Amino acid sequence: MENFVKIVEVGARDGLQNESIILTMSDKLNLINDLVKAGLTSIEVGSCVSPKWVPQMAGSTEIYQALPKVDGVSFSLLTPNIKGYEAARSVGCTEVAIFTAASESFTQKNINCTIKESLMRFDEIMARAKSDGVKVRGYVSCVVDCPYEGAIDPAIVAEVSARLLDMGCYEVSLGETIGTATPDKVAKVWQACLAHADANLLAGHFHNTYGMAIANVAASLDFGIRTFDASIAGLGGCPYAKGASGNVATEDLHYLLTGMGYKTGIDTDLLMQAGKNIMQRLGRQSRSNAAIAYWQKHGSSAT
Ligand code: HMG
Ligand code: MG
Repeated sequence: MENFVKIVEVGARDGLQNESIILTMSDKLNLINDLVKAGLTSIEVGSCVSPKWVPQMAGSTEIYQALPKVDGVSFSLLTPNIKGYEAARSVGCTEVAIFTAASESFTQKNINCTIKESLMRFDEIMARAKSDGVKVRGYVSCVVDCPYEGAIDPAIVAEVSARLLDMGCYEVSLGETIGTATPDKVAKVWQACLAHADANLLAGHFHNTYGMAIANVAASLDFGIRTFDASIAGLGGCPYAKGASGNVATEDLHYLLTGMGYKTGIDTDLLMQAGKNIMQRLGRQSRSNAAIAYWQKHGSSAT
């Protein structure tokens, strides 16, 4: 569809993995079902990682299994290694996401291996995914800054993302993990990556620690990027990036895109209701400015 921008909803994974309250399975299912009702069609529902490392994500396969299969909606699980892939497959998962970084220190802290070792783990996943007919999305974290190493060279981001595409990822999402980037720095990353890959194979994943995520999305649109990850109500962060706040809020991203004349396929009222429901459950204020303004206009609040 012309002028369509795809939003990949990561709130149930990237969002909830960093919440201090661990939600019940029925809370998580309510959230994901609300997101489907609002029109989101690509939803990351959890991760198959060690529950000792990220306790919030325990039970993700049960969540996947309990979700109603909906035509045109893809639910995915994050898988760092073959053990995670096998867990995802044991519940019939047909889309997984593999994740590494452009920083050695972050990769070590996040998945306990080097970048090269992570790619070797992914070769194993990819071989199985090809024979199982499973779609694989790739992530590269720390595409601008790393919490341990500081500024990252865009050439490394381009190299790692090209490796993920070469091994068969249908799309690679570039993670601005700690939300420190400004649009000029994001532009340098796209310039480097677009020398090796088409814009339609890349996605933007912006955290909003310094309130720059929407500006970074707007800058990415100028480079032809048409897929962005977002988290309902701006939930989340990353357990291995201290101080990093949630992703760009889905409501804010939807407001930006529709305001600029793009189509997202999302129903504004149902999206706002989804955000309100999860924030009521978490008992705190939404991080979405668009949601706060929307509920004020409707004589209510975003929690
Ligand atoms: P490890 O300790 O190196 O793994 O962890 P190991 O193979 O030595 O195994 C140690 C233990 O973990 C064993 O259990 C394994 O069975 C178990 P034990 O014998 O001690 O009881 N194990 C697993 N359990 C469940 N699922 C698995 C699994 N693999 C091993 N898949 C591992 C390696 C990757 C598992 C670990 O480092 C880990 O779980 N890390 C968590 C990573 C994570 O979830 N990070 C957050 C998501 S990434 C992110 O947020 C960034 C992103 O949003 C983009 C951006 O913003 O930049 C994507
Ligand atoms: Mg993230």
